[in-house]
This record gives sequence, structure tokens and C-alpha cells, in this order.
Amino acid sequence: MELQDAIRGRKSIRRFLPKAVAKETLREILELSARAPSAENTQPWEFYVLAGETLDKIRTENVEKVRKFEMPPPEMHHIMVERPKGSIFRQRQVEIGKQLYGLMDIAREDKEKRAAWIEKGFRYFEAPAAIIIVAEKSLPIEGTYLDVGAVMQTICLAALDFGLHTCIENQGITYADVLRKHADIPETKRLMAAIAIGYADADFPANKVESLREPIDNVIFWRGI
Ligand SMILES: Cc1cc2nc3c(=O)[nH]c(=O)nc-3n(C[C@H](O)[C@H](O)[C@H](O)COP(=O)(O)O)c2cc1C
Repeated sequence: MELQDAIRGRKSIRRFLPKAVAKETLREILELSARAPSAENTQPWEFYVLAGETLDKIRTENVEKVRKFEMPPPEMHHIMVERPKGSIFRQRQVEIGKQLYGLMDIAREDKEKRAAWIEKGFRYFEAPAAIIIVAEKSLPIEGTYLDVGAVMQTICLAALDFGLHTCIENQGITYADVLRKHADIPETKRLMAAIAIGYADADFPANKVESLREPIDNVIFWRGI
């Protein structure tokens, strides 16, 4: 796949076909993606690749917690980012939500449907596999996040070359205790990102979403050129 096509073609997929992804394919994607840059080549990332019964148990327990309105544990507060009220960032957040709810035909006041939609994220959108990126807690979170971001996007792009799609999701690491229990992730590792990965269900309405971008000239500041 051409690089430009991959960059433009990458999008978050929120429903996957019930088709397993070969372990070797996932390994190849991660081997390739680990070519991502990191500060001073520290490569702080490690990957827990979940599928099968392990992933199913996690889906089930995540949803149990969502239904009880359980908050993320303190160790996951780094994913709870509030954008300033009235800011453009909030506006963009609202916009993507509106698009998704529109495509899924979920009315604003339909609490039941909204709750059911939110649960899907905690079920990794039924993806046959999920990649959990972790990093040692002894590393400073700020710089490590940048490195993890680089490998995260590389995974999403590399996946496309294997005919696979992805959804990066904070929802997928919200309940750290569930993941630690079923995936045997030690307390010494911080959960940084989850990526649902699999074959896209092209007919699923939410997968037709086209997220918008700010016109590029609004965010470039040329100096000396
Ligand atoms: C750090 C991060 C966390 C995200 N968490 C979620 C999530 O929990 N649930 C979800 O549906 N999408 C999640 N997304 C996907 C974003 O909503 C998506 O990337 C954004 O709306 C742009 O759409 P696109 O990926 O289709 O271009 C996350 C993306 C990032 C980078």
C-alpha cells in the first residue's frame, strides 16, 4: 500500500468482522511498527496482544463495571483528560460524537441506546484482537507518551498494509484491574494505550464516519520561509 493512501485511509473502525487475525500477522505488524522512533532510542513500549477467551473475559468484566458506573482506578487518571469548556477542542469532540450518534441513529435523549453504544468501546468493538501498549512505571509519563504515540500510529498504518483496521481507544484500558487480572500485566507497567485490531465490517454505519480536520493553513505558522 502506498504511504499516502495509508495515511489518508487510516480511520477509527468501530465494528469488526468475526474473523480471527493470524498471530504471525500481528507479530509482523508489531515487528515493523517497533521501527518507530523514540527519544534516545529508549523504546519504552511493550505489547500485550489479547484475543480469544482472554479478550472475551475482559470484554465481559469491562461491561460489568461500566454498568455499575465504576470510575477508572487512580492509576488510570492520565487518560481522563478534560478539554476547556467552550474551546475548539471541545467543539471538535462534540462534532465527532454527533457524527457517530447520527450514523448510529442514536437520539440525544435516548439514554438506553447511548449506553449500549458506549459499551461497544469497552468490548473493543468486537475486534478479534486488541493490543495493549504498556511502559514501565519507572519511566516519566510525559516523554514516554510521545514515544508510545509514535508506535501507536505506526501500528495503525502498518495494519492497513495487512488489510486490517484499528481503533485506538482509551476505553480499552480504563479498567486496568480487569486487564491486569486476565492478561497478567504486572503492577510495574503502566497502561498507555489500547488498539482494537481486525477486519473492518464495511457495512456498519459508524465505520462510514469521516472525521474532519482543521484546514491545514489555520495551524501552520511559517517563519523565515
Ligand atoms: C489517545 C486516543 C484515545 C482514543 N480513545 C477512543 C475511545 O476510547 N473510543 C473511541 O471510540 N475512539 C477513541 N479514539 C479514536 C478517536 O476518536 C479518533 O481517532 C478521532 O475521532 C479521529 O477519527 P479517526 O481516527 O477516524 O481519524 C481515541 C484516539 C486516540 C488517539
